Amino acid sequence: MAPPPSKERATGAPAGASITRRTFLRGLVGFAGAAALEPWLLGARVWAADGGNVLSPEAPPGEGSAGAEEKAAGALWNEELVTVGADRMAVSWVTDAPGETALWLGERPEEMRRYAWGDRTRHHLAEVEGLAPDTRYVYRVETDGTVGPLNSFRTLPKPPGTRRLRLGWIADSHLAAGSGAGDLNQRYLGKLTDAAPTLLERALDDLMRKGVDAIIHAGDLTDTAHPDEYRAFQTIVAPYAARVPFAAVPGNHDKYRRKTGGIGEAGFREAIGDTLPRLLDLGAATVILLDSARPDDDWGWIPSASLAWLNRTLNETAGRPTFIVLHHPANGMDLWFGTTNFFALQAVIAKHPHVVGVLSGHMHRNFISLARHGDGTLPYIELPATVQFPNGYGLIDLYDGGYVYTSHKISAIDLSERSREAVLKGLNDAYVLYTLGGPGDRNLSYDAGRRTAVRQSGFAVVAVVELTRLFTLLKERIGAAFSVAAAEAANLRRLVFGRFATREEAERRRAELAAVLPFSLAVKEETGGSLPRSL
Ligand SMILES: [Fe+2]
Ligand SMILES: [Fe+2]
Repeated sequence: MAPPPSKERATGAPAGASITRRTFLRGLVGFAGAAALEPWLLGARVWAADGGNVLSPEAPPGEGSAGAEEKAAGALWNEELVTVGADRMAVSWVTDAPGETALWLGERPEEMRRYAWGDRTRHHLAEVEGLAPDTRYVYRVETDGTVGPLNSFRTLPKPPGTRRLRLGWIADSHLAAGSGAGDLNQRYLGKLTDAAPTLLERALDDLMRKGVDAIIHAGDLTDTAHPDEYRAFQTIVAPYAARVPFAAVPGNHDKYRRKTGGIGEAGFREAIGDTLPRLLDLGAATVILLDSARPDDDWGWIPSASLAWLNRTLNETAGRPTFIVLHHPANGMDLWFGTTNFFALQAVIAKHPHVVGVLSGHMHRNFISLARHGDGTLPYIELPATVQFPNGYGLIDLYDGGYVYTSHKISAIDLSERSREAVLKGLNDAYVLYTLGGPGDRNLSYDAGRRTAVRQSGFAVVAVVELTRLFTLLKERIGAAFSVAAAEAANLRRLVFGRFATREEAERRRAELAAVLPFSLAVKEETGGSLPRSL
């Protein structure tokens, strides 16, 4: 059945909501996740990747303006510009009937060139490489003469020097034996347990096609840590691991025992053949793999022995760009079961300015937060899940002087759309907003020499909070499972509750959140640079 056309989706509250917003916030996700899952109408629109300069819709080449708009609204939907790197872009959309995937793209509307892909499909993914860095482009999608609106984006700046390495990043494949864990993600939020193997395989295929030099999995390989899931993982990954270095860290699901009857860490060790922490030497870069998972605990924690090891190891890798990967995100508190002792981890990282990025899975969303360490800014990148909308993966192009990170949808847009449609009615748009993130959550250019980050500009809804107060709130909502020493928490944090292409959208979101959150929220323009000096 075809989803409603974009005009209907964008005009009113989602139909069929069976629980109220407040019930959902309290009952299902607790404080932190709740903020991100607020119902919000995303509708079917295109992110303006360059900070709101969406050009007015106008006629495609050779068509009348009004007619074209009518047609586009009814027949093309869920158009999403997910990827905008220094040299690449990718946009996806859906049509009522199978048709051609075509894209008009150029630096000016009158100079757009038409790119076309062969297959006839309802689920379109147009990827273009070879773009000029730091350049504004305009584009519109087309299927069999039906066109989307004219939009624009600006490519990211290319870091200094030559490209040395291309790294593929995947996370949260959640391979499931039988029906899987049957958790909230699976029941309400579109986790495609049955399609997990296909999605993992397609992500790996996509990465190999892009010529990656190594693949790193950020955890939750399996859904329940069942031996069959580990075996399935090994079978799927083996052919790829034979071609490029493959490494993984365990996620909370990979350590399940009592919770699901899984075999926990033993399965991970056997499937991956690794003990953590460890260092992966890729020549031009180092990747440090940390284990943040503990048996039957969904929260993350880095043992002090690992932190001591990390400090020693970083001393040895000084001078070489180093990425750290751990399953649980480790920056800030807008996290759902994140790394609870992230202060201790950051204290170690702050001493080593050659750490250029920290990557995590677990949150099943695109999100990039920046931390100030000394005089520099360090990106903390959350990877999208393969198993759940938007069903994606990450790519890092490492240059002599930095890197570009881009998030991608797996080339199985049919499954991505199935995941979107499987989200509990009334939460679809909210969940899409949470998991897709804003343009600046999906793409980033990092200058390692200057230790500065550039991302697509936009408008962020932010609150500056005292962590002691936040921890008290979390404890009330989540209970004893959450514990962070109050002494560590005595400082201020800037929390981001969403990034938007336009100020108007950000203001709408701010108003919605203000009704349920005990913080004062503000809309801040992000100009695309590093973290602001003052919170
Ligand atoms: Fe996960
Ligand atoms: Fe996880």
